[in-house]
Amino acid sequence: MDIYQNISELRTSVRSWRREGQVIGFVPTMGNLHDGHLSLIRKARERSDRVVASIFVNPLQFGEGEDFDGYPRTESRDQSLLIENGCDALFAPAVTELYPEGGMPVTIVEVPQLSNILCGAHRPGHFRGVATVVAKLFNLVEPDLAVFGEKDYQQLVVIRRMVEDLCFPVEIVPATTGREPDGLAMSSRNQYLTDNERAIAPVLFAELRKAVEALGSGKQTPEELCRAGLAALEEAGFRPDYFEIRRASDLAQVGEDDLRVVIMAAAWLGRARLIDNIQVDLEYTSG
Ligand code: PAF
Repeated sequence: MDIYQNISELRTSVRSWRREGQVIGFVPTMGNLHDGHLSLIRKARERSDRVVASIFVNPLQFGEGEDFDGYPRTESRDQSLLIENGCDALFAPAVTELYPEGGMPVTIVEVPQLSNILCGAHRPGHFRGVATVVAKLFNLVEPDLAVFGEKDYQQLVVIRRMVEDLCFPVEIVPATTGREPDGLAMSSRNQYLTDNERAIAPVLFAELRKAVEALGSGKQTPEELCRAGLAALEEAGFRPDYFEIRRASDLAQVGEDDLRVVIMAAAWLGRARLIDNIQVDLEYTSG
């Protein structure tokens, strides 16, 4: 696997692959790779001649008081895992390579309508940071396709919209959330959980599943289901930020005619902010 820390070397390689007509698949990450990330690499591998991953802990998407400094950085382990899973190139720039002026770049990319709701309401500026860095990475890697995990469902919707609005010639490929055997969605932040919190954490996914079943039975309104979800999370020891049912395509409030919805929740458990979601096709679940 080739490892690039600077932009010009990365560009020389990817452009030579592109001239040869090779399909380039891209997986952006912040490192500390787990099996969820590796499934994204494998998915890119199936569809591409060359797979490029990036590891960059992007300061722009962390708010004040968030875990930018403490975010786990495990470079050499990550490199071995990428090699084992068939990655061809890793772009791992220093912060100064992507943001030479330091701090906030003058040009930013923002999808405001999708960025200030749900997680964005609790993490102001987060999706602006994500959209800006992903736009930069797309311009550097120039991939044909890029794989994003469905665990970060709002991020996926934001990136899709950015790609559409700014005419990036990149296919966004969603990948199913990787889960532990007890259902907990894989996340680098799971390692912040104490043993006791780790035992409670699967309740988040369990409550989402209960809401899916209840939605299908039609006995409760979406509002009642969300209130019940929030109460159950609090009861289990979480500090929930939200439990919501939204239209899957654009995260709008659900209307009566919407058949494809997503049930999303975010909740703190100790130091870890956990997020998860389940997409639901109401056509097939309604009883
Ligand atoms: O999902 C992530 O790991 C990050 O938000 C991303 C897409 C790599 C941008 O920094």
